[in-house]
Amino acid sequence: VSRGLASSAVAGGPIKHITIIGGGLMGSGIAQVAAQTGHSVTLVDLNDVVLKKADGSIQKNLQRVAKKMFKDDKSATEQFIGKAMQNVKFTTDPLEPVKHTDLVVEAIVENLNLKHKLFTSLDKVAPEHTIFASNTSSLSIGDIASVTKRKDKFAGLHFFNPVPVMKLLEVIRTKETSDETYNKLMNWGAAVGKTAITCKDTPGFVVNRLLVPLMAEALRMMERGDASAKDIDIAMKLGAGHPMGPIELADYVGHDTTKSIIDGWHEKFPDNPLFAPVKSLAKLVEEGKLGVKTGEGFYKYK
Ligand code: NAI
Repeated sequence: VSRGLASSAVAGGPIKHITIIGGGLMGSGIAQVAAQTGHSVTLVDLNDVVLKKADGSIQKNLQRVAKKMFKDDKSATEQFIGKAMQNVKFTTDPLEPVKHTDLVVEAIVENLNLKHKLFTSLDKVAPEHTIFASNTSSLSIGDIASVTKRKDKFAGLHFFNPVPVMKLLEVIRTKETSDETYNKLMNWGAAVGKTAITCKDTPGFVVNRLLVPLMAEALRMMERGDASAKDIDIAMKLGAGHPMGPIELADYVGHDTTKSIIDGWHEKFPDNPLFAPVKSLAKLVEEGKLGVKTGEGFYKYK
C-alpha cells in the first residue's frame, strides 16, 4: 500500500498508479504491460485463486518478454522480471487501492449491472483526479459511466487478447469525456507500449464493429450454401490477405462471446441487418461447441 501512496500523482500529473479490477485473461495482461513499463499497479479480483493464477501467468509472460529483450543475459533478465514484479500488488479489496490511484481500468465480466455496482462504489472513494476506464468489448461506455459523477473523467480503454502481444489500444471518448482525460489516456497508451487510436462510443468501436459483422456474414454465406467454411477461410486468407479466415477466427474468439455480442447489438439496433442473429452460431452454442476452447466449433481441434 505504501508504494501506491508514494507514487500516486496529483491532479494534472501523468498516470503513475493504476488499479486494474478483474484479474482474468484481460486484466492480468493489462497489469503485466503496465508493470513492465514502470507503472505501479494493483490488480484486484474477487477471487484469490484467480489472483494466484494471474501472478503466475504474469511471471511466465515476463520471462518470454525478457528472453526476447536480453537473449542469454541472465542477470539483465532477472533484474527486468524482478523490477516488473515489484511493481504489481494483488488484492481482493478494490476500495483501498482506488483511494490513491490515478487510473482505474475495469476488466470484470461483461455485465452492465455488475459494472454499475462496481463503479458506483469506486466513485465514492476515488480522489477527484482519478480517471475511470472500462475494457468492455460490447457495452456502451456512456451507459457504464452513467452511474458515476465523473463522466468527464470516464472513457474506454479497449485492449486486445493477448494483451502483451497485440499492439493496438482503442481509446473511446464519450460525448462527455474531457480533452484532458482523453489526452492523458492517449499518452498512457503510448507509455505502456501500445499504438492508440481514437474511437467514438459506438457499438464495437472500430475493430469489433468490422470484425463481428464479417464473421457473421461469412457464416450466413455458409448457411446459404454459397461456399463451404473451408473455402470461405481460404478465400479471405489468399484473396484478402487476412492471417486467419473469418470462420477460423470465430472458432478462436469463442461462439458464446460472439453470439452474446451480436445479440446485445441486435436488441439495441433491431433494424440493422448486420446485427441479425446467426442460426449456425446459436446451434453451436446450444451444443456447447464453443470453438477452440472446447475442442470443437465449426472445425475440430485436438
Ligand atoms: P475473465 O472472465 O477472464 O475475467 C474476469 C474476472 O473478473 C474474473 O476473474 C472474475 O473473478 C473477476 N470479477 C468479476 N466481478 C468482479 C468484481 N466485482 N470485482 C473484481 N473482480 C471481479 O474475462 P476477460 O476475458 O478478461 O474479460 C474482461 C473484460 O474485458 C470484459 O468486459 C470483456 O468484454 C473485455 N474484453 C475481453 C476480451 C477477450 O478477448 N476476452 C478482449 C477485449 C475486452
